[in-house]
Amino acid sequence: MMHTMSNQSQILLEAKNLTKHYPVAQGFLKPKALARALDGVSFQLTPGKTLAVVGESGCGKSTLARQITMIETPTDGELWMDGKNIAHADKVLLKQVRPLVQMVFQNPYASLNPRKKVGAMLEEPLIINTTQSKTEREQTARAMMAKVGLRPEHYSRYPHMFSGGQRQRIAIARALMLDPKVIVADEPVSALDVSIQAQVLNLLMDLQQSSGVAYLFISHNLSVVEHIADDVLVMYLGKTVEHGSKQAIFSRPLHPYTKALLASTPRIDPKQRQAKMMLPGELPSPLAPPPGCAFNNRCPHANELCRKEIPPLRRLDDRLIACHRVEEI
Ligand SMILES: Nc1ncnc2c1ncn2[C@@H]1O[C@H](COP(=O)(O)OP(=O)(O)OP(=O)(O)O)[C@@H](O)[C@H]1O
Ligand SMILES: [Mg+2]
Repeated sequence: MMHTMSNQSQILLEAKNLTKHYPVAQGFLKPKALARALDGVSFQLTPGKTLAVVGESGCGKSTLARQITMIETPTDGELWMDGKNIAHADKVLLKQVRPLVQMVFQNPYASLNPRKKVGAMLEEPLIINTTQSKTEREQTARAMMAKVGLRPEHYSRYPHMFSGGQRQRIAIARALMLDPKVIVADEPVSALDVSIQAQVLNLLMDLQQSSGVAYLFISHNLSVVEHIADDVLVMYLGKTVEHGSKQAIFSRPLHPYTKALLASTPRIDPKQRQAKMMLPGELPSPLAPPPGCAFNNRCPHANELCRKEIPPLRRLDDRLIACHRVEEI
């Protein structure tokens, strides 16, 4: 059945309880263990908006990116686009929906083919997915180059002739060639010089303004997120711990983990600086998450309940939060 006009049409992509468990060999003749890299994450992406996903190294951000971009198939959960659940799409459907979700990777030195000139790289997706003639493809590529701030003479240059920031412009241009609805950007500026980061972030924001593309923006750098995000989803060991508007999360973080993350980020506005809070210990292994709240062994407020029961993600005022004790602390 077709979805007709409703506010559903404003949702470009919806993840419901998205889950990825990787089987991991434990040794000869031992049963495989499961790494719960992504453990039931839900969100919606809407046109022209940026959802930032933040959390420490190993919390499952790139795993999430690989499910959303259909590079991998999720173990469980649903991924809705255009009124279809594409989580277990067949080849025909995948061919249809994959171009709608593009990816920009962290390292523009590794993600661009060193043997292809910029023009050829940009035109490649057009050859595969459109019926444009050679002349039309060149026109489309040159127009995109202008949009991302590359000069006409760059068309016939190889990636090694570009700086990191310019390479990331090329990667962004390529991601936009098929007019995608969603771009997943996994740490797109963290490999760049700090002086270049703002330029690339501003470019991403300008392109979003003009195209209406939605971003799923992955970063461990909260000052970058504060610059670019509309909404923020905080992940811990494969699960959402807090999810709300940037304003809500940055001005009034409620989850002890979000507070700790923000406290460890240098903030420009002195009024926004939180009392320093230590984040002791390390992220537990997704092979053996602790019972109860996964954050309990590092949380200064954890009690008996936190060590026994997994806190459900629930609505509290302007956000979603998974913490038993948030009302008391
Ligand atoms: N193919 C795989 N097989 C087994 N375990 C995996 C696999 N891919 C990821 N993992 C595990 O899943 C967890 C999440 O990894 P992921 O790369 O998604 O984290 P991340 O948040 O992107 O970290 P980073 O900030 O370092 O990029 C890690 O514990 C990782 O070791
Ligand atoms: Mg990653």
